[in-house]
Amino acid sequence: SLCGPGLTGPGLTGPGLLPVGLTGSKLGCAEGGCGACTVMLSRLKGDQQSLTPPLSHYSVNACLAPLCSLHLVAVTTVEGIGSVAQTLHPVQERIAKAHGSQCGFCTPGIVMSMYALLRNKATPTMDDLDDAFQGRCTKAHITTDGGCCGGGASGNGCCRTNGTADTEATPLFDAKDFVPFDPTQEVIFPPELMVKTDRSQSLCFHGDRTVWLQPNSLEELLSLKWKHPEARVVVGNTEVGIEVKFKNMVYPVILSPADHIWCLLFSVCSGIIFGASCSLSLMEAELRRAVDSLPLHQTQVFLAVLEQLRWFAGRQIRNVAAVGGNIMTASPISDLNPVFMAAGSNRDGLLSDGSRLVQMDSRFFTGYRRTALRPQEVLVSLEIPYSKKVRQFMSAFKQSPRREDDISIVTAAMSVTFSPDTSLVEELKLSYGGMAPTTVLAERTAKELIGRPWGEELLQAACSSLAEEMTLDPSAPGGMVTYRRTLTLSLFYKFYLTVLLKLRDQVWVRSDCLSEVPQGQHLDDVVGRPIMHLSALKQATGEAVYCDDIPLYENELYLALVTSTKAHAHILSIDTSLAVSMPGVVCCLFSEDVPGSNSTGPIVYDESVLADGQVTCVGHIIGAVVADTQSHAQRAAKAVKIQYEELPTVVTIQVTSHTPRVTSHTPKVTSHTPKVTSHTTASGHYSGDMHMGGQEHFYLETNVTLAVPKEDGEMELFVSTQSASKTQSLVAKALGVASNRILVRVKRMGGGFGGKESRTTILSTVVAMRPVRCMLDRDEDMLVTGGRHPFYAKYKVGFLDNGQVVALDVSYYSNTGNSMDLSLSVMERALFHMENSYSVANIRGRGFLCRTNLPSNTAFRGFGGPQGMIVAESWVTDVAQRLGRPAEEVRGHRAGKGVGGGGPVLDQFTLDRCWDECLRRSDYKQRRAAAHLYNRQNRWTKRGLAVVPTKFGISFTAVFLNQAGALVHIYTDGSVLVTHGGTEMGQGLHTKMVQVASRVLGVPISKIHISETSTNTVPNTSPTAASASSDLNGAAVHNACQVLVERLQPYRSANPKGCWEDWVSAAYFDRVNLSANGFYRTPDLGYDFNSNCGRVFDYYSYGVACSEVEVDCLTGAHKNLRTTVVMDVGHSLNPAIDIGQVEGAFMQGLGLFTLEELHYSPKGVLLTRGPGSYKIPAFGDIPSHLTVSLLRDAPNAKAIFNSKVRTEPRPPPHMNSGSSVRNKTVQTSVEFCKKRQNIPVPPVLEFQLMSVCMVNLFT
Ligand SMILES: Cc1cc2nc3c(=O)[nH]c(=O)nc-3n(C[C@H](O)[C@H](O)[C@H](O)COP(=O)(O)OP(=O)(O)OC[C@H]3O[C@@H](n4cnc5c(N)ncnc54)[C@H](O)[C@@H]3O)c2cc1C
Ligand code: FES
Repeated sequence: SLCGPGLTGPGLTGPGLLPVGLTGSKLGCAEGGCGACTVMLSRLKGDQQSLTPPLSHYSVNACLAPLCSLHLVAVTTVEGIGSVAQTLHPVQERIAKAHGSQCGFCTPGIVMSMYALLRNKATPTMDDLDDAFQGRCTKAHITTDGGCCGGGASGNGCCRTNGTADTEATPLFDAKDFVPFDPTQEVIFPPELMVKTDRSQSLCFHGDRTVWLQPNSLEELLSLKWKHPEARVVVGNTEVGIEVKFKNMVYPVILSPADHIWCLLFSVCSGIIFGASCSLSLMEAELRRAVDSLPLHQTQVFLAVLEQLRWFAGRQIRNVAAVGGNIMTASPISDLNPVFMAAGSNRDGLLSDGSRLVQMDSRFFTGYRRTALRPQEVLVSLEIPYSKKVRQFMSAFKQSPRREDDISIVTAAMSVTFSPDTSLVEELKLSYGGMAPTTVLAERTAKELIGRPWGEELLQAACSSLAEEMTLDPSAPGGMVTYRRTLTLSLFYKFYLTVLLKLRDQVWVRSDCLSEVPQGQHLDDVVGRPIMHLSALKQATGEAVYCDDIPLYENELYLALVTSTKAHAHILSIDTSLAVSMPGVVCCLFSEDVPGSNSTGPIVYDESVLADGQVTCVGHIIGAVVADTQSHAQRAAKAVKIQYEELPTVVTIQVTSHTPRVTSHTPKVTSHTPKVTSHTTASGHYSGDMHMGGQEHFYLETNVTLAVPKEDGEMELFVSTQSASKTQSLVAKALGVASNRILVRVKRMGGGFGGKESRTTILSTVVAMRPVRCMLDRDEDMLVTGGRHPFYAKYKVGFLDNGQVVALDVSYYSNTGNSMDLSLSVMERALFHMENSYSVANIRGRGFLCRTNLPSNTAFRGFGGPQGMIVAESWVTDVAQRLGRPAEEVRGHRAGKGVGGGGPVLDQFTLDRCWDECLRRSDYKQRRAAAHLYNRQNRWTKRGLAVVPTKFGISFTAVFLNQAGALVHIYTDGSVLVTHGGTEMGQGLHTKMVQVASRVLGVPISKIHISETSTNTVPNTSPTAASASSDLNGAAVHNACQVLVERLQPYRSANPKGCWEDWVSAAYFDRVNLSANGFYRTPDLGYDFNSNCGRVFDYYSYGVACSEVEVDCLTGAHKNLRTTVVMDVGHSLNPAIDIGQVEGAFMQGLGLFTLEELHYSPKGVLLTRGPGSYKIPAFGDIPSHLTVSLLRDAPNAKAIFNSKVRTEPRPPPHMNSGSSVRNKTVQTSVEFCKKRQNIPVPPVLEFQLMSVCMVNLFT
């Protein structure tokens, strides 16, 4: 394909963009799900006869674009539109300067989506933007807005002209600084691609396993298909590409007809005919044109198709995926096939000796992924009919875990036609996807309803009949059997209501900075100002270098992992004979090849570098294959044969409610009992429990390491890691050399979120055994690296009549996976956050670590805090329900100044201020009243609000980690090089450190540079984690700079009118050391679990958020309408970066608690291994109104320049928003799931919500 080094297209190895030096398009998933690889294609439209044929520009996922399909197509990558050295494109400039780029790994893709949109529409609307970014993940950042424009935007887009301005807000950027966008200045289409003769040629490409044929006429295509009936017809490659990459399919012959021969499109008297290779985007545009120009009664079917297309994949996929490809894939969960079936579309199948018309009815799909077309046939076209003039109504539905770009759980289309002037059903078609191995028509039910009037009786009959007809075996693939069956009825009910009604008759995200620099702060002092992320411009142009962008070394080799397919087993034998005979293979590596120690682990050495005799999870690294290219190494790794003797497997925590049996081999217990002081007697008590699922980090850049050997046993490693020093020491241990021979260098990471704190060391130790490069594919990364710990908690609360909880006892059980890793510290933090922000006089917490046969779970943003807090929110809700009070009343009993778990003192306490500010800014009372009114007026959708406070302890709980170092050099030209122990993963740490150095040294940031983090400049660094890095490293940088300032002071005093360069020069010639190292250790820390005494955190970070959520009671779909966050970050070092981080943390929490779900088979096999099956929040999941405000005037004396670190993911308020919506809403459904079904509560999936909402069918 076009993107990715050595990634294969359908059998044809594509050189990709890296070897030609184009590193901007990133490979984030290789399955069209993340958009990091987006490029723009430009081609001449079909009409070759025209002298100046029109051009079409469209965005595509390079990872699925076969190179062979790009003949005469211009490819524009992010490098082609602008660069830092020359001119930035307006899109690149805006995304960077408006703080839209954090880790930057997917920024080039986002830039290219926007660029392609602008090439087609110079002044896009907000809807166009939504459409262009549909389905794109929000993992690292929210790019729809960087904050207030400061009055620079034109028209009604500016809050200052449309009246929504917040007078307290400080602009985060000034739009007046931007170079205006001029669409006439874009790159032209290369004239050499316009040569007509070339465009009418048939083509043939030979690969090592596949022949790619591009016929240039329909006749040629048919004759080739006759000759090669087994050949695959490839148009968009969005299905075939996935089969080749992930299902190891090899197709010897590919037929990819030239674009113009059957992308036909014409109207006939009964409808519009679309050529089978017509892209979904083109079809969408044509149908929209028809809807705009034709009478409504003619376009009911078109509207249904458009409704379905709205939720079909993302724009890049729709730009290439063909209508024929969707039909012929014959997926049982195809979104379009139910619509075509319900509409009674015709399709043309063509044989070489003539055509035949095939009706889309119950005989078209003959079995799982099979159709009535014969192997020699191709699909030529599809007719989508006009709806009838008599009353025909049609609707389409798609129910999926995530609204945008997700696989359907159930998809449906329904069409009803009434007899003239009556409400009697004349014709009814109900088609469903997701209910059988094929798309099906509910023919019996339809027949039963013919002739009946559209009313209550018909509804009852339909429901009884559908319940009988749409059955599913309990073991049906896809699970959720009850939910799916219920959906068939509720979707029909939605249709019923819509038709009944017919028979009778701006999104924005805004963030405010309430924190301002003090009056009088000098303009040159950048601390506290919204300085752009220092790499933002390079990230926006694709010039920022990530680990895998480092050019290939001469003779460089590639390493692919050999991993276990069994969760728990003895390895009986390993057969590498086939693998070593494969092309390009250099060697295989196993445990006996580890030169030093094979035992490893970040804290205790309970893991092996390479499995030795036994595997304890699927994905356990057994060995590796080294070859000349990535594809050769990966192919050979799959050819290694391993025989196992399986052992009993434990996957889940398995604590029953009666017997607290823990499935740990060695359950570790830590207890946290800081207070048992109150003599108050509780007037009520309650016992409850809850499960919380895990979470995948889904950093956009997967784990990657490049090892370069040097002399004397030295090894230089380029690693994407949060822990340079830990990587160094574990690699040294594995190689059997001293740490001083190992140099670990980290330039930047494409996201980390804790996933690169300890688990990266495993890959790095393997890679370091040879001079090789290895970047994990997304599916491998998800399989091998583990994620957030799933938790189970049992609790008892005692409470007073006023809602105050006075006693709390919680036992937490965490699923550690197959090794200890950081699980103990994660559990400790969960315990320290067991009260969240509430005041509880008597508490006891116990933690049990349960070892299972899953890949080791590890650090994840929040590090146990979210697990601890969500349980607190659960008992708050329980208490409120028991007392019949709003949950907000119970939440009102917050911890106060001077009281708090995990440390005796809550000083600089701002939680109450955050709470009041949040209520005020969210118009809580008015919105709550409006929601009540809404709920009275609407039966099937309900709204709820909730406000949730959080309090997060800042410091590593392991005391020794609370230290940091820095090294600052001043060169003779006055430029400054800063190095510190923290790593940059998009969180803006380097930017903040430069701001700190700038203030202390008194020089502009343009004179200061941070190149990388490396173990030979600052040794023994702590991981960049625990939210503590800007505090620790900032203080170390401050310390080093202060030393230098003092050394320069004599030269300043001697020459007060001189400049920085003069003083530096004078000091140099006076033989003054212009290099200093700095150090910082957080004072007065230390908590003793035995005595439960001491101070575990230096201080707390506070925040409050209020969310309003709407739930569709018929399907369980929920949407976050508004969220207001107020966060105390002290005197922010950089409000733009802090706001971006709070937004990101909020969205990550929203994903954790409402969307993301890992699925394992009972045998411990991870089933969700990419964006196709594991859904993180997309752009469309951002609340329609998201406001983040930083609390003003809240200095924090404990950290650098009175700042505070930002927050971590919290239980999003909308997790509890239903508290004000009695019955059928979020909160009761959460309650229901939790108490009665024992379903892991987060995420609040649709089926869980609906199972409550549908308590009593339609009543
Ligand atoms: C990220 C992503 C998101 C997706 N989202 C959705 C979604 O929301 N809903 C949904 O329904 N699907 C979805 N899909 C599936 C897929 O995109 C669609 O099915 C698409 O329409 C396939 O079209 P294509 O041109 O890319 O097919 P290709 O991959 O080119 O071909 C698919 C199959 O159809 C056969 N074929 C194609 N044309 C013909 C023809 N004219 N005659 C005979 N056989 C033919 C091919 O031989 C092949 O077997 C998604 C896929 C990806 C990768
Ligand atoms: S890498 Fe192409 S979409 Fe993710």
